[in-house]
Amino acid sequence: MSKRIRKAVFPVAGLGTRFLPATKAVPKEMLTVVDRPVVQHVVDEAREAGIEHFVFVTGRGKGTIEDHFDMAYELEDTLRRRNKSKEYEALMSDLPAAGATSFTRQQAPLGLGHAIWCAREIIGDEPFAVLLPDMITLPAKGKTQRCLAEVVAAYEKHGGNIIAVEEVKPEETHQYGIVACGKDYGSTFEITGMVEKPPQGTAPSNFIISGRYVLEPEIFALLERHEKGAGGEIQLTDAMIHLAKTSPFHAVRFDGRTYDTGSKLGFLAANVAFGLARPDVADGLRAELKKLLD
Ligand code: G1P
Repeated sequence: MSKRIRKAVFPVAGLGTRFLPATKAVPKEMLTVVDRPVVQHVVDEAREAGIEHFVFVTGRGKGTIEDHFDMAYELEDTLRRRNKSKEYEALMSDLPAAGATSFTRQQAPLGLGHAIWCAREIIGDEPFAVLLPDMITLPAKGKTQRCLAEVVAAYEKHGGNIIAVEEVKPEETHQYGIVACGKDYGSTFEITGMVEKPPQGTAPSNFIISGRYVLEPEIFALLERHEKGAGGEIQLTDAMIHLAKTSPFHAVRFDGRTYDTGSKLGFLAANVAFGLARPDVADGLRAELKKLLD
């Protein structure tokens, strides 16, 4: 029987160079989509998928992320005294339980694989989830599950390692990790190969690794080798390629949508999509968009 996925790693040390100058003094993960920081959306998704312990791999200048997931005593006290109970309750329901967060630092920007390796002591010897915080997801129309819940469900079915994938245009594949497809089970399929950022025209499929994973703890010993891959960085995909020699990998085709908030267009689209999904602002936003487009 597969083990329960209790812990998730959020690599939040990235410099956000695609989004300067906004990210000069503010971590990119703290930019807001509607009224929640990007990283809060990702933590919401992890909570919905049953995650109980949230491991943040941070870096210098990322202190506000830690503050965001702590109590803000003066603020909360003021809200209570002013009878702003709705705002107070909302903050309280977002607050992770005491002891449910861990923060460690990636001391140098050596790549995603290195960031995940930095969480090894906190994860220990159990399968765990990884959520790339640039990527935020919305369920498909008529559904309620965001991406990680589907990944965890696929883990309960197949065991081993699971990666969320999404189909992109062939001319975009060189920007991502790509999987090769084996036996198809409908919403999931067997992964027979992976490659990180293949040169244009060489990708084995149009399915990108879209930023949600369940991995076995054996990945840490492979990341420990610190082998450099695409872009001179220690790549998570390369360690997964090694792990796939001894352990099964399956993909989940997420049928909702993933927004890359690390890109300008993805960030703007995310604000529109998440706004339209929010009952308190949807009608007003739709009217504004209509005016702009007319
Ligand atoms: C990382 C992963 C890549 C994945 C991508 C999704 O790349 O290495 O496999 O497809 O995230 O955004 P990065 O965006 O950090 O270059």
